[in-house]
Amino acid sequence: MLFLMKTLRFTTLPGDGIGPEVMEVAVKVLQKLGNLYNFSIESSSHDVGGIGIDNHGEALPESTLAACKKVDAILFGSVGGPKWENLPPKEQPERAALLPIRKAFELFANLRPGNLYPELCDLSPLRSDTVANGIDTLCVRELTGGIYFGQPKETTTLDNGEKQAVDTMVYRTEEIERITQLAVNAAALRDGRICSVDKANVLETSVLWRETVINCVQKLNPNIELTHMYVDNAAMQLVRDPNQFDVLLTENMFGDILSDELAVICGSLGMLASASLGTQKNSFDLPFGLYEPAGGTAPDIAGKGLANPCAQVLSAALMLRYSFGLEEAAQSIENAVKETIRAGLRTGDIAMGKKATGTSEMGQAIIDRLQ
Ligand code: IPM
Ligand code: MG
Repeated sequence: MLFLMKTLRFTTLPGDGIGPEVMEVAVKVLQKLGNLYNFSIESSSHDVGGIGIDNHGEALPESTLAACKKVDAILFGSVGGPKWENLPPKEQPERAALLPIRKAFELFANLRPGNLYPELCDLSPLRSDTVANGIDTLCVRELTGGIYFGQPKETTTLDNGEKQAVDTMVYRTEEIERITQLAVNAAALRDGRICSVDKANVLETSVLWRETVINCVQKLNPNIELTHMYVDNAAMQLVRDPNQFDVLLTENMFGDILSDELAVICGSLGMLASASLGTQKNSFDLPFGLYEPAGGTAPDIAGKGLANPCAQVLSAALMLRYSFGLEEAAQSIENAVKETIRAGLRTGDIAMGKKATGTSEMGQAIIDRLQ
């Protein structure tokens, strides 16, 4: 029998701060997993963010973009840091790298799982009786539309010399339909509930959003339990009882805000992964995607071998799941991380005063638990 080994082609964009050290762990995990699940990896590393500015004069260098166009997925680290903080907002590494890369690959669907293991429930700022059993929700955020990209987007000077700035929040039906479809698929694999978040009491875009989501869910899968919530109420409900939500579906800016709220409720940014899926199919006929940890570059601990690699490793698991169709391998990573935490290993961000483990030791503990 001919046994074909799958080759996973992706770029790694480690970026700044702790990015490179946690990326190193994620690649090691993938290499080890390849032996167990019979795949090989072909990855190349490129500059993005602050290091892109330093080495190429741009946060998203042409050469990096070109390399990403040749592969099936991007494993992203994190970008930014004090060195580039005084640049004008448009040139800051976060914005100047992430927004164009999202646009370039039309990464319209941002999946941010909000997971808190029961073992880590004391990390959550929420009352322990609220989160004693952990948290398991998924935020599905529209990522290439709305007020982030709508035109006009400009600052002008009025006749009286006063300045005026405008951002435009705009959505087309099709943009809402494709993100809803994704949320429906995700919910069907979970508890089958979607709460769509909008501001339909005030915003036209939200009226269209709600109407389109209702029609779409009805058509795609009427078994999904669909509810709606205004964004201000959703922000409140999230801290009151995060587990009332299975899948939260929302537009770009609301999702930006709510996903950070969800992240802090889940205790440590060092544990949270995310996937941004595009409209294009890769060579496996699966979505091209960008996978990145939710946390930042943590410049205070960068280069010290103290960073938590879990979010980067879990992002690699999402890459295996969505862009390479390797569900079992993805679960193997997720279980290994869970077992590592269960065994009591903790990096500083999740140690709660107990003895902290370093980045590579944590990585090795995960690798040892891959099955
Ligand atoms: C995020 C970030 C970005 C966003 C910024 C850095 C442009 O906050 O990924 O949530 O607002 O989308
Ligand atoms: Mg954000």
